[in-house]
Amino acid sequence: MTAQGPRVVLVGAMGAGKTTVGMLVADALGVDFLDTDQVVEREAGKTVSEIFIDDGEAHFRELERRAVATSLASHEGVLALGGGAVLDVATRDLLDGHRVVFLRVGLSDAAQRVGLGVTRPLLLGNVRGRIKQLLDERTPVYEAVAQHVVDTDGLSAPEVAALVRAVVEDGGHA
Ligand code: S3P
Repeated sequence: MTAQGPRVVLVGAMGAGKTTVGMLVADALGVDFLDTDQVVEREAGKTVSEIFIDDGEAHFRELERRAVATSLASHEGVLALGGGAVLDVATRDLLDGHRVVFLRVGLSDAAQRVGLGVTRPLLLGNVRGRIKQLLDERTPVYEAVAQHVVDTDGLSAPEVAALVRAVVEDGGHA
């Protein structure tokens, strides 16, 4: 665990609850919450969907890589990464040494939580099918970067937040 940097970094798929849970955990710990999608949107001056449409996914990933690097170096609260951020090898290297928690979600709960998925360009067209594909492809990557796994299926956001908080407060190794 590095001396500086986030108290905890949340990773996981769209619909895992990273943002909702992250805000609750930050509140409980009395620290700030930051989501790398917000950093990207601020930097670009437009939404993630607009970046995908105007500039393409590769450009979004470049902005995301920079947003993650800056946030890991400077944010000391709770940090949530966009669902695809861990696909980048440089990002995975940067995560080494941080306390990373994987919020695991199954297909049914993820599909319910994202609903029609209108703000998530990667899901458009076939929300359930795309989530299944992304979960299949990415679950091993989330497992590889995280020291802790919290299963979120069937749990409310406050219940998941309490489990994450326990990991942070137990000082679970990073
Ligand atoms: C993405 C997840 C989104 C956002 C973008 C791409 C992904 O973030 O970064 O739409 O590739 O899984 P959330 O996981 O916060 O929805």
